[in-house]
Amino acid sequence: MTELRILLATPHAGYEQRLRRAFGDTFNGELRRWDLGGWVETPQELVRQLTVSVPDVVAIGPDVEVDTALSLARQLEQDLPEISVLLVSEPSPELWQRALRAGVRDVLAPDAVDADVCAVFDRVLEIARRRRQNLVGEPDGQGPGGRIITIVSPKGGSGKTTLASNLAVGLAMVEPNRVVLVDLDLQFGDVATALRLTPQHTVVDAARLPGHVEGMALKSFLTPHPSNVWSLCGPETPAEGEEVSAEQATQIVQTLADEFRYVIVDTGSGLSEHTLSVLETTTDLILLCAMDVPSVRSLRKELDALEQLGMTQQRRYLVINRADSKVGLDLRDVEASIGMSVDVALPSSRSVPLSMNQGSPVVESEPRSPVARQLVGLVERFAQHPVTDGQRRRRGSQR
Ligand SMILES: Nc1ncnc2c1ncn2[C@@H]1O[C@H](COP(=O)(O)OP(=O)(O)OP(=O)(O)O)[C@@H](O)[C@H]1O
Ligand SMILES: [Mg+2]
Repeated sequence: MTELRILLATPHAGYEQRLRRAFGDTFNGELRRWDLGGWVETPQELVRQLTVSVPDVVAIGPDVEVDTALSLARQLEQDLPEISVLLVSEPSPELWQRALRAGVRDVLAPDAVDADVCAVFDRVLEIARRRRQNLVGEPDGQGPGGRIITIVSPKGGSGKTTLASNLAVGLAMVEPNRVVLVDLDLQFGDVATALRLTPQHTVVDAARLPGHVEGMALKSFLTPHPSNVWSLCGPETPAEGEEVSAEQATQIVQTLADEFRYVIVDTGSGLSEHTLSVLETTTDLILLCAMDVPSVRSLRKELDALEQLGMTQQRRYLVINRADSKVGLDLRDVEASIGMSVDVALPSSRSVPLSMNQGSPVVESEPRSPVARQLVGLVERFAQHPVTDGQRRRRGSQR
């Protein structure tokens, strides 16, 4: 984390030390504590004091009474909206609801582990940065909302989840905590398995949120991966998946795109109602195909169907998986049949299933392997900055 200006509003001196420990040596910002113990001033007076030196993040708590914390949050939202407010308090659905209404951006449990503390602060600071840019009218080069990158394939088992998880982790090497991976395979979603996650919440919880889905509420349903990717995992059972409507799925993806720079959407095979609905808001469509005649034919039919539905607005990429299979087809045959040029050809590699078993996609576990190099090539199509050797090595050695 760099150049953070955090104001910690709490009577709890020990928590300041706790945060400094969590941030570690890399923290080169400013962390000040404001003792809210002797609460005598009104929220207006406190906010007035802040305008002298405006922090990026105000973290309220622990040990601040919830009503007090929320009235300060409301005042900050009203008078200094460029500040992101974080509440340090034991989260509960009821607290989340109240916090949302008060303009709080995130809720952090006081006893959260270091990785969660850093991830939450990174996210909240990023929101503050974007807000400030919007308020002063400086575009951040992304336009409204992040890119929505959806991966489709007509056939099951073609490598959609492999590609989605590698793309997400590869992008997070360049832009940590700005990537969310959404599992929209609502029957047999396997993002959680591919990344070895144990989600507390899934897309079903997100769909159950009443009314218009708020970005901040959605974030409480995400599961972090050590590579700084966030995931909205798929349902536990196909029956649960039926609770999620196509409209809800699309709204969830759109809302996440307001909060993250990249939303990677993994889908079930074929063009389900949900996939079609999400394609309407997708900016980049990755078509994935295996090196065999039935797969190539099915993909051609899928493209025709999209054409007939008028869904041609997304940027398209063609990825061939297991491209080195000796099955009598070569890439030129595939290009001719599909009518697109191949953007990336992934070879078969034992490292792919092995890395999945470890929950560490091959771009981070085996960054030098031929398959990972091809995947990084795809990442670089999307990333604003190329993936450096240092980033690849760092990831490789972290796991
Ligand atoms: N290039 C590759 N080399 C070797 N194995 C691969 C490769 N790509 C994918 N696999 C393996 O193939 C299997 C299917 O891949 P994956 O789960 O990504 O496909 P999928 O399209 O998401 O499947 P589903 O339709 O069931 O969701 C996995 O075991 C994966 O490890
Ligand atoms: Mg899959």
